[in-house]
Amino acid sequence: MAELIVLLGPPGAGKGTQAKVLSETLGLAHISSGDLFRENLQKKTELGVLAKQYMDRGELVPDDVTISMIRERMQRPDCARGAMLDGFPRTVPQAEALDAFLADSGLGAVRKVPYIKVGEADLVERLGGRWTCRANGHVFHTVFNPPQKSGVCDQDGSELFQRDDDKEETVKNRINVYFQQTAPLIAYYQRMNILVEVDGTKPIADVTADLLAALK
Ligand code: AP5
Repeated sequence: MAELIVLLGPPGAGKGTQAKVLSETLGLAHISSGDLFRENLQKKTELGVLAKQYMDRGELVPDDVTISMIRERMQRPDCARGAMLDGFPRTVPQAEALDAFLADSGLGAVRKVPYIKVGEADLVERLGGRWTCRANGHVFHTVFNPPQKSGVCDQDGSELFQRDDDKEETVKNRINVYFQQTAPLIAYYQRMNILVEVDGTKPIADVTADLLAALK
């Protein structure tokens, strides 16, 4: 694989927003574990039904299921030039499995891990006002990034919806789970010398510019 980038950050940090733009700019496949679970949920697959039980509570889907879903996704042809991972890995065992998979399959290694840093109060506000497009997952916010026409995606005209797991109680649990299970990845990638911290509290376009600079 030519290029592999992992976007790290808490729920609502802007991983999905930035991955959509950056993957297009850099010509990489955008792989979002959350979007893959939601697609499965929409199609009512066995994986989707299983994942829903965890997602509704703001908990993580078990590592074995998540790892095999991502392995399969990374072998599709659109990943030949590289990929930007958004939401995966999310635990140390997932990161170790990713490294092992990349080494075993001769795909190389993760090159850079931008960590989008945003404080807890901002996260709750961002997720409470988030609207997502049904067709392609484009992300909007009632205050910070409103669509031109309420309820309609600017990019593809599809319906915008609010995610079930963006309810306040679930958001709080997702943030707790992030600190317990995902935040240790900051040290994991720091040790490998590939972590680069980006201030995620700036306006969206400024964060994009900082990420592009960090990825040079
Ligand atoms: P997932 O879909 O990955 O959700 P998440 O990580 O919680 O991240 P979000 O999508 O909520 O936030 P984001 O950082 O992408 O922010 P966004 O760009 O949308 O996972 C959902 C669930 O799936 C998990 O809880 C778990 O159950 C399961 N799952 C997924 N991956 C898994 C894994 N690897 N292992 C196990 N389980 C897994 O932005 C948020 C809002 O803020 C938007 O409204 C946006 O417009 C706005 N915004 C963005 N940037 C800015 C900015 N700079 N300023 C102001 N507003 C901004």
